[in-house]
Amino acid sequence: MNDAAIGIFDSGMGGLTVMRALMARLPNERFLYLGDTARLPYGTKSADTVTRYAVQAAAALVRRRIKLLVVACNTASGVALPALHEAFAPLAVIDVIVPGAQAALAASPSGPIAVIATEGTVTAGAYPRAIHALAPGIAVSQQACPLFVPLAEEGLVDGEIVELVAHRYLDGLLAAKPTCLVLGCTHYPALKTVIGRIAGDGVTLVDSAATAAMAVEQRLRDDELGTQATAPSHRFLVTDAPDRFARVGQIFLGRPIDPATVELVDLQ
Ligand code: DGL
Repeated sequence: MNDAAIGIFDSGMGGLTVMRALMARLPNERFLYLGDTARLPYGTKSADTVTRYAVQAAAALVRRRIKLLVVACNTASGVALPALHEAFAPLAVIDVIVPGAQAALAASPSGPIAVIATEGTVTAGAYPRAIHALAPGIAVSQQACPLFVPLAEEGLVDGEIVELVAHRYLDGLLAAKPTCLVLGCTHYPALKTVIGRIAGDGVTLVDSAATAAMAVEQRLRDDELGTQATAPSHRFLVTDAPDRFARVGQIFLGRPIDPATVELVDLQ
C-alpha cells in the first residue's frame, strides 16, 4: 500500500489549505482530494446528512485505493468520525478537530480558549469535547460564523463588509478575554487578517492544518506506510464545477491546479 495515495476530503475547496500543509510536510506523498462542491455547505446541515455525505465521499476515495484518509472538513470531523471508522476499518482516519485542540492547548495551556466554527461543529460540541479530553476544566467558549464561508468563497476576505460581519460574530466571544482563538473551519484562515485585527495582539489564532499534517506524518511512520517516491502527481475529484474548482482552488492550495487533473464524479 505504500505507493497508494493519501485521500483527503472536504465539503469543497477549503480543505485544500489542509492539503497544502500536507504537501509541505510530506513532499514525497501522492494526494487524492475530493471536494463535495455540489453539496457545500455541510456546516448548516444536520449531523445525519453530513454523516451520509462523508461516508459517500470517503467511499469514492477508498474505491480508488488510498492508504490513509484525512477528513479535512471540521464539520464532518465533528459528527461523522464514528461512522467513518465503522465503515472503513482498518483504514487509518485522521480528523482535524483533535489536531486543532492540540494546537490550541499548545498556544494557550491554561485558557480561556475561544472557538469559531460552523453551526454543525458548534452544535456537536466537537472542539470543547476534544479540548476537555486533553485538559479537563479549561474554559472554552464557541461561536458559529456561517457567513464567513460564502465570504471566503467569494474572495471577500478584507474590507468593510467583512469587518462588520466579523465584529458581529466576535465581539461577544472576545468579551470572555480568550488568549487563543481556534479557526475551527476550513475557510476561516482565509479571513485571518481581519479576524486577527479584531481579536488583537493578546489572542493567538490557531488552525488545524499544520498540526493535522504532523498527525498524518506520525501515523504513516507508525504504520510504516510512507513512500520515497519523487515528483508525485496529485489528483482532484469534485461533485460539481471542475473548472471553477481549478480556478478558485489554487488560492486555497497556494499553487496552480491543472484542470486536467480535476475529475467530475457522482457520489450517489
Ligand atoms: N468545510 C467546512 C468546515 O470546515 C466549511 C464549509 C462547509 O460548511 O461546508 O466545517
